[in-house]
Amino acid sequence: MTMKTSSFVVVVLVIAGFLLVQSSPVRKDMQNNASFFPADVKKVIDNKCYGCHSAQGKSPVAKGALLWDSLPNLKKSRIVAKLDNIVRVLQKNIMPPAGVVKKNPEMKLLPEESKLLQSWAVSKADSLLR
Ligand code: HEC
Repeated sequence: MTMKTSSFVVVVLVIAGFLLVQSSPVRKDMQNNASFFPADVKKVIDNKCYGCHSAQGKSPVAKGALLWDSLPNLKKSRIVAKLDNIVRVLQKNIMPPAGVVKKNPEMKLLPEESKLLQSWAVSKADSLLR
């Protein structure tokens, strides 16, 4: 192989590798939807909520109840209803489910994280209803 062909091969492999990573079905965090989820809110969701409420979650019930990645694309009235549900579970302090938090204490939603998600959900719902 000449120098020219081998560097061509390298470039092709790098591009192929890049495309493979880009199209990987396994995502560790929420799709980037910065206008809908501010960075601090996204961080809490990624750490404490996303594992169950995303396409790769293991519980069909959790996925049926809420999918963060689809939320911004729902009808306005559905988004507002979901945001209301989110505020309700946060006020009751029932997410992540108690059994899961007991086994994985690091999953516990801290009071300031709960407040952050609640004020985000309330103001998002308000702005959609305006
Ligand atoms: C370990 C998995 C798990 C994690 C983590 C988790 N959830 Fe859930 N979630 C569930 C399951 C299972 C359900 C459905 C059963 C239920 O309502 O208890 C649910 C239901 C919900 C619902 C719908 C409730 C309703 O009555 O409509 C909301 C809203 C919700 N979760 C929000 C959250 C938020 C916010 C977080 C992060 C703070 C979170 N969840 C983290 C498993 C999880």
